[in-house]
Amino acid sequence: SAAEKGGYDHFMLKEINEQPRAIRDTLTGRISEEGDQVIFDEIEWPAGFAEQIDRIHIVACGTSWHAGMVGKQAIERLTRIQVDCEVASEYRYRDPIVTENTLMVVITQSGETADTMAALREAKAKGVRVLAITNVVGSSAAREADDVIFTWAGPEISVASTKAYTTQLIALYLFAGWLAQERKTPFASELPSILSGLKQLPELASHALQTAPAIEKFAKNWADKNHAFFIGRGMDYAVSLEGSLKLKEISYMHAEAYAAGELKHGTLALIVEDIPVIAVVTQEQLYEKTLSNIKEVKARDAFVLAVAFDGDEEIAKSVDQVISIPRVNPFLAPVIAVIPLQLLAYYASVVRGNDVDNPRNLAKSVTVE
Ligand code: G6P
Repeated sequence: SAAEKGGYDHFMLKEINEQPRAIRDTLTGRISEEGDQVIFDEIEWPAGFAEQIDRIHIVACGTSWHAGMVGKQAIERLTRIQVDCEVASEYRYRDPIVTENTLMVVITQSGETADTMAALREAKAKGVRVLAITNVVGSSAAREADDVIFTWAGPEISVASTKAYTTQLIALYLFAGWLAQERKTPFASELPSILSGLKQLPELASHALQTAPAIEKFAKNWADKNHAFFIGRGMDYAVSLEGSLKLKEISYMHAEAYAAGELKHGTLALIVEDIPVIAVVTQEQLYEKTLSNIKEVKARDAFVLAVAFDGDEEIAKSVDQVISIPRVNPFLAPVIAVIPLQLLAYYASVVRGNDVDNPRNLAKSVTVE
């Protein structure tokens, strides 16, 4: 009913708009008053385990896997532990190499996804310690994992995941920071600045939501397209994967995400006049590289929509349209950069007359293989 949707036309739009609150709730109680420590009383590892971990396997499906792709980069950067991030349906069948110093992190909104649970059980049978990041208290993942970090997104009804993803990112950033702190890595010194950045995210997410009218307008002129490409590097690539999945799931447009540097190895053959390319450009150290990829697609007359920071004149000159997001520490940018991509998928789906909250062939929780 309309009341359940809080006055929004669809659960998805309601859930997109709940992100500032969901992010705040997921941070609450997990940062020390001084702002220099992560508090995870829910993690009860045996003494010495934090120091011993030499490999982390992140395993998940769908949007949760995309959150893991960001988490991998965050954990590697702050801890220098090697992290693999794999879809559960592959992981469970390939006899993954683990040792007593491997940590598995499963990410699952519902806590019930069949492949993810099978991978969790497979790892546990091999004696691997499992940490679950989940949104559902009492779910199978919450019950069976050794340790649990809850995301406090609240119930997510729309099949296309939005607030679950951003809160998974928050949990992963906090976990990366916590692990650096426990292992006393040199990168732990970055913690106060990262934590203060995390605390700003609810407000910055509210600003990013204000891109909605511009995106709605764009979607109206755009939704008759049949293909779209998403490009980015590093964390922007991980966000591109999620933006592309959102668009496919609910607008039914064909979309593909590419690591921007990989374009020239094949996909560039598909870049022709007016083909929509959505470029995510938030990573400072990769800025020039992505810009040159944007120029490559512009030279083939693609239509480029960029998601970039407020005041980025260089990008504005180089593309057809910019969606500006508020400036944020690039390390945390995925939480903000994904918001316009969620809105783009949402409005494209609405314009195309689709059943936004219940897309064809898809289920919220896939509990069979
Ligand atoms: C289904 C949903 C996706 C979700 C995926 C993993 O395919 O439609 O939105 O990302 O399952 O779900 P989980 O609950 O494990 O995060």
